[in-house]
Amino acid sequence: MDELTKELNDIARAMVAPGKGILAADESTPTIGKRFAKLGIESTEENRRSYREMFFSADGIGQYVSGTILYDETIRQKASDGTAIPEFLKKVGIIPGIKVDTGAKPLAGSPEEKVTEGLDGLRDRLEEYYELGARFAKWRAVITPGDDLPTDYCLSVNAHALARYGALCQERGIVPIIEPEVLMDGENSIEQTYEITQRTLHKVFNELFDQGVAFEGMVLKPNMVVPGAKAPRQAGVQEVAEMTLTCLKTVVPASVAGIAFLSGGQGDEEASAHLNAMNQIGGVPWPLTFSYGRALQQAAMKTWAGSSDNIPAGQAVALSRAKANSAATYGKYTPDMDKVAS
Ligand code: 13P
Repeated sequence: MDELTKELNDIARAMVAPGKGILAADESTPTIGKRFAKLGIESTEENRRSYREMFFSADGIGQYVSGTILYDETIRQKASDGTAIPEFLKKVGIIPGIKVDTGAKPLAGSPEEKVTEGLDGLRDRLEEYYELGARFAKWRAVITPGDDLPTDYCLSVNAHALARYGALCQERGIVPIIEPEVLMDGENSIEQTYEITQRTLHKVFNELFDQGVAFEGMVLKPNMVVPGAKAPRQAGVQEVAEMTLTCLKTVVPASVAGIAFLSGGQGDEEASAHLNAMNQIGGVPWPLTFSYGRALQQAAMKTWAGSSDNIPAGQAVALSRAKANSAATYGKYTPDMDKVAS
């Protein structure tokens, strides 16, 4: 391993260290706005700042959270004690990360599909984010299952962009989180999700290899192999865990530093139970952890409800979800760990 790959590997391994996972707090302003609106919370810059600080300042959060993905607005903000957010995170043992894609846009010639944008000017943006303290980044590709979908065209362009982003990150000493997300809200069966996820990852790893991305210096953020939410047959926890691991083993190189799953709209307990079952099965070459957005945040957001009076209660819920998922990385999660959160 050369010097740069070694440096990237150290960061990547810290991101997936035993008992720790990633807090995805990188919702764009419109997305967090929608989540706040559902709970009647006003989406002001100060509300977004103080909501995110609630998580970062929860006592002991660094025991369970290795890194957090920030949005551009947040990485430039300050905590209430005046410390810059990246500095504040480092003090509590959390590695700052940054979302660098600029969103999934309609794919020309295939209107039901999307391609993720954000490559223009990326080298300069990475330089600035590195100066601001980011040591890892995220880029999310969105793959939509459906009749005759996804197309190979959609998989190719998204895989190509993921690899271009990955190579640019590594050049700057930033660990790329490679996130090809097969959406979980359709009618597809678990067998279809398996096949689509396998095709997607196959293309992604081909491109990563062709573009010279070091697997030791990246973290994969995949979906789990679950049936779509509208599929007639839902699957049990064990089935999801087994099919996800089998699928990953067929296409993910052993040298990938770690796998951190997205939650993708699964319920809180479901996301933890799936991760837990996979870690109980084990027998894979990568650490398996979480990089959850909704499954770490939604209960705490509800408790906070936009009021500073509720911050301690919101922090208790946030900690309890983080701790439950930390336990799942050891295969030691039990649903009663979520009692405080519900
Ligand atoms: P969810 O866990 O809510 O799917 O979010 C993770 C994420 O970062 C999506 O890009």
